[in-house]
Amino acid sequence: MSVELRPLADGDAGWLAELHNRAFADYPVPAVLDASSLAFYMDETDVRPELSFAAHVDGRPASFCLGAIRGRSASIRGEGTVPLLRRRGLGDRALMATLDALGAAGARTVGLEVLDGNQAARRLYERRGFEVRRRLLGHTLRRPPRLGLLDRRKYRLAELDPDQALDRLDRWGWHDAPWQLQPQSLAHLPALAMGDQAVVMAAGVAGGSGSTRWPSTRPPAGPGSAAPPWRR
Ligand SMILES: CC(C)(COP(=O)(O)OP(=O)(O)OC[C@H]1O[C@@H](n2cnc3c(N)ncnc32)[C@H](O)[C@@H]1OP(=O)(O)O)[C@@H](O)C(=O)NCCC(=O)NCCS
Repeated sequence: MSVELRPLADGDAGWLAELHNRAFADYPVPAVLDASSLAFYMDETDVRPELSFAAHVDGRPASFCLGAIRGRSASIRGEGTVPLLRRRGLGDRALMATLDALGAAGARTVGLEVLDGNQAARRLYERRGFEVRRRLLGHTLRRPPRLGLLDRRKYRLAELDPDQALDRLDRWGWHDAPWQLQPQSLAHLPALAMGDQAVVMAAGVAGGSGSTRWPSTRPPAGPGSAAPPWRR
């Protein structure tokens, strides 16, 4: 088997999305991207193609690692190897090439997130010196029942300029967020506010003439914060 490690380049999102989907086909949570959503994700999270690597086996893409950098902080924003070619050192080689490139670009720290129970990834990273720093929690929410007219008025969400939303989050204590929830990432999302009481940065929210409704197919998928006086 011949293995060639190459940095990514602009315009690789098409085959990379295909590789990503093959590598994540057995992932415990759905992880399917098309070329445009992958390109958006890379832009949103400051993944730099030239600091990211793919391993090609016999000329075909088999493994990838995405490197992102913000100042002196860097992050691995995703990595995967197609199932048939795992445990042959490809993930490790893509990771090491990415870490080298991030270091050469000025990174002093590199972070990443793994799902609890993803032993393969944990071992891959821990053997290269990554240590668990904290545990992150995610929440899901069922679509709530339709609100009555009075409540709809009371809880009305209006579009807000993303810079203003980020400013509020900062004042309300949005510190040390994980990479994808840092202001640089959130700046790519539309923002909604409930008066001066709460803000939500929501991918997939349908906007409309000054007010916004919970969309029928996809709930808001973004972080939010309540102003301190409105917290319990
Ligand atoms: C995690 C993943 C990228 C590893 O890719 P890979 O190409 O198989 O990794 P490597 O062959 O380079 O393995 C390097 C080391 O990682 C560890 N490792 C990899 N897979 C492992 C597994 N299934 N169980 C335990 N340790 C594992 C081992 O220490 C391994 O070294 P060894 O084979 O000498 O024991 C791959 O399993 C994968 O694509 N998983 C699905 C997507 C995913 O979970 N991505 C990571 C989170 S974003």
